[in-house]
Amino acid sequence: MVSGGTRAVARCDELGAAPYSDSAEGLTRTYLSPAYLAAQDRLALWMEQAGMSVRRDPAMNLVGRYEGTDPAAPILLIGSHLDSVIDAGRYDGPLGIMLGVEAVAALSSAGQRLPFAIEVIAFGDEEGSRFPAAMLTSRAVAGTLDPAALALRDGAGVALADLVDIAAYPSAARAPGSIFAYLEAHIEQGPVLEDKGLALGTVTGIAAQLRYQVTLSGMAGHAGTTSMPLRRDALAGAAEAILAAERIARDDQSDLVATVGRIEALPGAANVIPGEARFTLDVRSGDEARRDRGAEAILDAIAQVAERRGLDFVITRIHDLPASPCDGALMDLMDAALAEAGHPPFRLVSGAGHDAMNMAALCPTAMLFLRCRAGISHNPAEHVEPADAEAALQVMLGFIDRLGAMRAA
Ligand code: GLV
Ligand code: MN
Ligand code: MN
Repeated sequence: MVSGGTRAVARCDELGAAPYSDSAEGLTRTYLSPAYLAAQDRLALWMEQAGMSVRRDPAMNLVGRYEGTDPAAPILLIGSHLDSVIDAGRYDGPLGIMLGVEAVAALSSAGQRLPFAIEVIAFGDEEGSRFPAAMLTSRAVAGTLDPAALALRDGAGVALADLVDIAAYPSAARAPGSIFAYLEAHIEQGPVLEDKGLALGTVTGIAAQLRYQVTLSGMAGHAGTTSMPLRRDALAGAAEAILAAERIARDDQSDLVATVGRIEALPGAANVIPGEARFTLDVRSGDEARRDRGAEAILDAIAQVAERRGLDFVITRIHDLPASPCDGALMDLMDAALAEAGHPPFRLVSGAGHDAMNMAALCPTAMLFLRCRAGISHNPAEHVEPADAEAALQVMLGFIDRLGAMRAA
């Protein structure tokens, strides 16, 4: 019989291609796309087979519930996200969901009920790959989403309101006190665990994030006839701004990171000087003040570049999440579960964002990181060993067992 960890990895692999991908080649699964809905249907079946009742919540998260001995008791929520980045790996997000399903499958096949229900949630829109926002669905569940933030259109002009009932959306919020802990297992997406020769680690917290949409406007013109001093080339201005962002983050010599991950030049022709350049800017640090200082310096640099080059600019902040510490008592519990399963407890911080950041506004959060090969993520080469997934599953079961003993006391 295959182990639960092996099956969790195999299920991520199954969801890693069409029809569970928007693209014929590789994996791109964006929030509310046909591939997203198909993946939800497949996952719903796996949740039912594991002994859960399944529903979609008003934010179009998929939720499976495994009853405990007291249906009124606050629940344990286990989750991660089902959506992906563009041209993604197969494990960033889905693995945490599949391990939650396997944890419940192990409990239900052993006939074990806890003093609380366990719900497994598959969030959407963690990555922000479709709409100019991110983590809408976990913000909705945590009750921190401003309904005004739902007035969104994707790159093709499709409104979120045409895909989902946005009036009902905020009712995905869970009541304060209804969840006593949120647990998310996730690949590390960095090289620390592999470097230490460890399969697993306890996450201490998640770095603060800021994201902007920047538009620089100059003047489109003929590439053959406009002499260099007369140009107001928006794309050349963007290039200078991007290098300034890189320099500012690098010169900080800290955990400050700045990334321009998407750029468009308009009108986008070989023989036309770009009149407009649009790009994203993502800035992060474990220290919120450092993140804010870094972002401010980069925005100043963009303004200076624009002024020098005679460009207009508009900068819109599209995402702002504070640093999110994991719960101290739950970290201790995770360390104990690691030790019991024969893994040296090891703690590390997450540079990547997770739905746990939002859930921390509602309840104590815990995260378990799994080693991934060479720390590669947001890349089709993402890889996790099934043996590490099985190790994570056993630690999660130990963690749940300890929570059961605590809540029964
Ligand atoms: C999500 O993967 C993020 O950190 O942007
Ligand atoms: Mn990701
Ligand atoms: Mn993720």
